[in-house]
Amino acid sequence: MILKLSISLLLIILSFIAAYTMFEIFGKTERRKNMDILKKIHRINGRFFFIVFLFGAIGCIYMLSQSRAELTPRATLHAFSAVAIFLIFSLKILFIKYYKQFYSYAKLIGVLVVLLTFNLLAFSTGYSLVTGQYSKNFNTEAVGQQMIVANKEANVENGKKLYAQLCASCHYTDKKDFKRAAPGLQGIFKEKYLPSSKKAVTVENVINQIKNPYKYMPSFNDLTDSQINDIVSYLKTL
Ligand code: HEC
Repeated sequence: MILKLSISLLLIILSFIAAYTMFEIFGKTERRKNMDILKKIHRINGRFFFIVFLFGAIGCIYMLSQSRAELTPRATLHAFSAVAIFLIFSLKILFIKYYKQFYSYAKLIGVLVVLLTFNLLAFSTGYSLVTGQYSKNFNTEAVGQQMIVANKEANVENGKKLYAQLCASCHYTDKKDFKRAAPGLQGIFKEKYLPSSKKAVTVENVINQIKNPYKYMPSFNDLTDSQINDIVSYLKTL
C-alpha cells in the first residue's frame, strides 16, 4: 500500500515537472536563455516517468496474475487508462524522434499524458484515500493485536468444527481453487499475501477479514474473540 502511494506521488510530481518545463519551453516568447537546460530536464524527467510507470505497471500485472478474482469496473478503468497512457506516450516519442511532421502535436499529447495520469491515479490511490481504506487498515491491526494477547490458548478442534459449520460452504480447505468468488484456503498461512485483498497474511488481517470482510463475504461479527481465535488456529493447520 505504501509502495503504491509512493509510486503514485512520484508519478504526479513527475508529470507536474513535465508540464511545467513544457510550458516554460513553448509558452513564453521572451527570455529563452536556459532553453537547453529546460529541454534536458524535460527529457530526463520523461525517461524517469516512463521507468516509474513501467515499474508500477509490472507490479500491477504481477498482482493480477496472482489473483484469480474478476476485475472490478474500477480496476478495469484503471488498466484501460494505463494502456492508453502507454500508447499515447509512445506515440509522442515517435512524433518527436521519427515523424517530425507531426511534431506540433507532441505538445498536445504531452498534456494528454498528464491528464490521463491524474485520471489513472484517481481510480486507484485517490479512491483508496478518499474511501479511507488506508486508515482502515491501520486501525484494525491494533484490534487484532489485542485479541491475540487475550487468547493464547486456542482450540484447533473447536476451530475445525466452527469452520465446517460457518466457512466450509464457501471455502475449500484442500485446494486453492475458487468456489464462486471465494478462494480456497489451503495453506493460507504459508502464503505471503491473502488471495483476494492481497493484504499481507497476518493473524490481524485474517481476523479483520472475518469481522469486516474485504468485499462480498458475509461478516461474522457475532463470533466471540476466542471462537475466532480457534478458527484462525485451525486455518494455520491447513
Ligand atoms: C457466503 C460465502 C462465504 C462464507 C460463508 C465465508 N467466506 Fe470467506 N470469503 C468469501 C468471499 C467471496 C471471499 C473473497 C473476498 C471477499 O469478498 O471478502 C472470501 C475471502 C476470505 C479470505 C481471504 C481474504 C482476503 O483478504 O483475501 C479468508 C481468510 C476467508 N474468506 C476466511 C473465511 C472464514 C474463516 C470463514 C468462516 C468464519 C469464511 N471465510 C466464510 C466468501 C465466504
